[in-house]
Amino acid sequence: MAKIKTGFFCQSCGAQAPKWMGKCPSCGEWNTFVEEVIQRNEGGLKAAVQFQSESKPKRIEEIIQGNEQRVSTGSEELDRVLGGGLVEGSLILVGGEPGIGKSTLMLQVALQIKGKRVLYISGEESEQQVRMRADRIGYRDPDCYILTETNTQNIMQHLMAINPGLVVIDSVQTLQTNIIESSAGSISQIRETAAEMQRYAKTTGVPVFLVGHITKDGNLAGPKILEHMVDTVLQFEGDRNYGYRILRAIKNRFGSASELGIFEMRDNGLREVSNPSEILLSQRDEDVSGVAVASTIEGIRPMLIETQALVSTAAYGTPQRSCTGFDTRRLNMLLAVLEKRCGFRLGTKDVFLNITGGIKVDDPAIDLAIISAILSSSEDLPLGKHCCFAAEVGLSGEIRPVNRIEQRISEAEKLGFETIFISKNNLKSIGTLKRKIQVKGVSKVEEVFRLLFS
Ligand code: TYD
Ligand code: MG
Repeated sequence: MAKIKTGFFCQSCGAQAPKWMGKCPSCGEWNTFVEEVIQRNEGGLKAAVQFQSESKPKRIEEIIQGNEQRVSTGSEELDRVLGGGLVEGSLILVGGEPGIGKSTLMLQVALQIKGKRVLYISGEESEQQVRMRADRIGYRDPDCYILTETNTQNIMQHLMAINPGLVVIDSVQTLQTNIIESSAGSISQIRETAAEMQRYAKTTGVPVFLVGHITKDGNLAGPKILEHMVDTVLQFEGDRNYGYRILRAIKNRFGSASELGIFEMRDNGLREVSNPSEILLSQRDEDVSGVAVASTIEGIRPMLIETQALVSTAAYGTPQRSCTGFDTRRLNMLLAVLEKRCGFRLGTKDVFLNITGGIKVDDPAIDLAIISAILSSSEDLPLGKHCCFAAEVGLSGEIRPVNRIEQRISEAEKLGFETIFISKNNLKSIGTLKRKIQVKGVSKVEEVFRLLFS
């Protein structure tokens, strides 16, 4: 009998080493090496269904175009995130924390998609469980098959028999191939099974969704390598205390990687939210201090988002700074700017910041709204319901221009805002169109303060 060969694999980046190591020389993570069997099972290799196409180099103009046809998934939000629909033969990884709704989203696609037979392969739930979920979501005459199987060789056989137009695998961590002996979910299994699915997708032109789990620290469990192999990486995220879920493209070979789709988790599955601004602005009747609205852009879509700040005297020696949905370091920077430029003594104050809806915002145009919310809370003076903000704040307290200002202004106008504060530099670039909304240009933080509270 052949000697079993083992190796050590970094569970974070997939690097291989002959010996155990404390720190991975490739990605720098600590304590991630795990021993795995790398013996190849010869019988398994032969038994494996192989999709070997006869490849030969082609001149670029000989390559027939047109197989990048997009197919709608039946969900507008998902189509948008994918860059306009599903591309044939694409391998799409959908990541997210447990319980966020990955299986629900995928099953919904499987039940909704038109004109394609779907094979939904579940390695985590029984057929009955999937059926129960499907009943909850509701369906009309879907061409959808459920398979509970984790062995990829068996899966390949079913794929050949059923010949689906779309495959969903829930989840990639449960897949197992005969070729490798290590346990399901290990790096080498994930790498090999994903590679098999990739070969399947590329040779048959059938798009494949892979569901992947995320570790506690927010990485796709184990496989950074997976991100390189697949065409598209989508991340499903959201605060579990809120019903809203955001689907973000992190990588997309067929579209923009800054696209974003919003869903709401209901009793009967995920509902698409096509007008996010309405949900992100909390319905308030009276003016309260510490609230400011930012006109942000995520992907190509403008969204008005409410920011809330609470500034209070620190009860203990060290003041607290805490953020949800915003980077704490960036908050500290903005506070330092306020302290230095406006003479605010925030060093002895606790500052809390909250972005409504549990949404994470990367757009720097939210800075001015945050500064205004902090000032408003600190002065205990409301800003008024009808103004909003769109500008970045620099280290010297200057108000900097942001991209696509016209779109931000239009969105604010559409939602009934009466004033928008933007950078003076942005003023030049906007047309002289007659608008209902009043556009105010500011260049310094001090000026914002004067304009708002005098
Ligand atoms: P699920 O899709 O199982 O999450 P994942 O596959 O990412 O682990 O989502 C499970 C959660 O969603 C669970 O807490 C129940 C909730 N849910 C609803 O609120 N409404 C529904 O219609 C469904 C199907 C699930
Ligand atoms: Mg699941």
